[in-house]
Amino acid sequence: MEIIIASDREQVARLGADSVAQHVLDDPEAVLGLATGSSPLRVYQELGRRVAAGRLSLRRCRAFLLDEYLGLPSGHPQSYREVIERDFVRLVDIDGANVIGPDCGSVDASACGLAYEEQIAAAGGIDMQILGVGANGHIAFNEPGSSFSSRTRETTLAERTRRDNARFFGDDVDAVPHRCITQGVGTILEAGHLVLIATGERKARAVRELVEGPVTERVPVTALQQHPQVTVLLDDAAASLLQTREGHREVITDTPGG
Ligand code: GLP
Repeated sequence: MEIIIASDREQVARLGADSVAQHVLDDPEAVLGLATGSSPLRVYQELGRRVAAGRLSLRRCRAFLLDEYLGLPSGHPQSYREVIERDFVRLVDIDGANVIGPDCGSVDASACGLAYEEQIAAAGGIDMQILGVGANGHIAFNEPGSSFSSRTRETTLAERTRRDNARFFGDDVDAVPHRCITQGVGTILEAGHLVLIATGERKARAVRELVEGPVTERVPVTALQQHPQVTVLLDDAAASLLQTREGHREVITDTPGG
């Protein structure tokens, strides 16, 4: 696991975009895994700037979402399908039809989960997965206690996550769905390269568990310790509780990719 502590959120974004861009330069048909939430937003914006400047093209890429709320009407502005359309697809040159989410509609969620796993497998698996982390250590919607071998499935959101995500629903926690469909921890661990982005003090405890804690299903993000290729991009605040922070690479100045 490579831990990089950047000087600020903008630099985290540039480094995240560098990772994606390098991957796509090596393989223009790369299959990307996209996270929603606020953490990757600046990375997506930076990718958009590089595409607009003609320095990068995602035209031949495909992408899969990590998760989706259940029970929101189709087209709801906070459904992850809509969020990724607004925050990623419109900024870059990827074909929206090649950005796939676990949209169940009226389909039974367990059949939908199985079908989603098959779609990912048919694409050859996810080459690079962008991840955020919940304040409680969740990844995608795998809440504390999720099995490390879990696959795409319907599950329940923790109350902490519903409260955290209420900010996207006009601060109305009652508007946040209780149920969701998510790639499992086991699904996520099969991606070739995991790039986790965490910024702000609110993430410091989860980051400490990820980097220094024991591997435990009580903190799903610690599963990443078992993956051979993980890049963790942090700002100072997110890294603030690390006892080992001196040992990690600190990026003080601009990188050439910026
Ligand atoms: C959400 C998403 C996760 C995301 C996490 C952190 O609930 N399902 O994929 O990584 O919470 O969100 P944020 O980046 O907004 O802090």
